[in-house]
Amino acid sequence: MTALDTAVIPRHVAIVMDGNGRWANKRFMPRFVGHKRGVDALVRTVKACADRGIEYVTVFAFSSENWKRPEEEVSGLMGLVLVAVSKYLGKLANEGVRIRIVGDREAVSDKVREAWREAEQRTAHNDRITLSVAFNYGGRWDVLQACRRAIVEGVAAEQLTEARLSQYMALSHAPDPDLFIRTGGEVRISNFLLWQVAYSELHFTECLWPDFDEAELDAALATYRARDRRFGGVKPAATTMAVAALPVS
Ligand code: IPE
Ligand code: IPE
Ligand code: MG
Repeated sequence: MTALDTAVIPRHVAIVMDGNGRWANKRFMPRFVGHKRGVDALVRTVKACADRGIEYVTVFAFSSENWKRPEEEVSGLMGLVLVAVSKYLGKLANEGVRIRIVGDREAVSDKVREAWREAEQRTAHNDRITLSVAFNYGGRWDVLQACRRAIVEGVAAEQLTEARLSQYMALSHAPDPDLFIRTGGEVRISNFLLWQVAYSELHFTECLWPDFDEAELDAALATYRARDRRFGGVKPAATTMAVAALPVS
């Protein structure tokens, strides 16, 4: 597909899918039900993003810090990975979604690792949209593992540039996110993509993740379109106006 103008549609959207537990609590249901409905919201959102021409979606599904949760919730989330893959992998594969998993796979069980491997393998040829699932991921872990890999490969200190280090980061297959969305009302990054969000536009919404729908996505895209991305520079139009305003002597 042809790349759309990123001033209109972001190429890459990163999402912190937060608020599942509160969504369930509000309904007097166990937190797990919120996580389950969160998977449905994710599948819906990936399709909505693909329909709008977004090329990459990266979602925070389980953070390096989420191991601190009660054992029951952690094992429920691990089990949900297996259920989600068996329920939705075929659908996502048919919709042209390429799945990639980013994060530390060492600590997850063999079953979860195998489910991730299957998801990646079965969708490897797809190119409509890339869904990167950050699982057992932390932004600090990512920077550290990238540095370690560079060192192991013998990259000399003076050869280590920002571009070179980016090649070792977990999301090296994607451009930096244009738009960062966090649902659930918290206004923080929570150790998501620290390196990659340097110039992302940030959008925070009170919407709890299981309720996230096309209207919420379109609202986020509308705020994105209204932003003035300068990347540290100045807007060409503003420069022209400033020069035009200079007194002619
Ligand atoms: C986000 O929802 C999903 C994960 C972290 C796995 P939460 O479980 O954090 O939901 P809240 O923030 O407690 O409502
Ligand atoms: C961030 O949400 C992690 C995911 C959505 C997977 P958390 O619920 O873990 O973040 P904090 O604890 O509120 O910062
Ligand atoms: Mg939360």
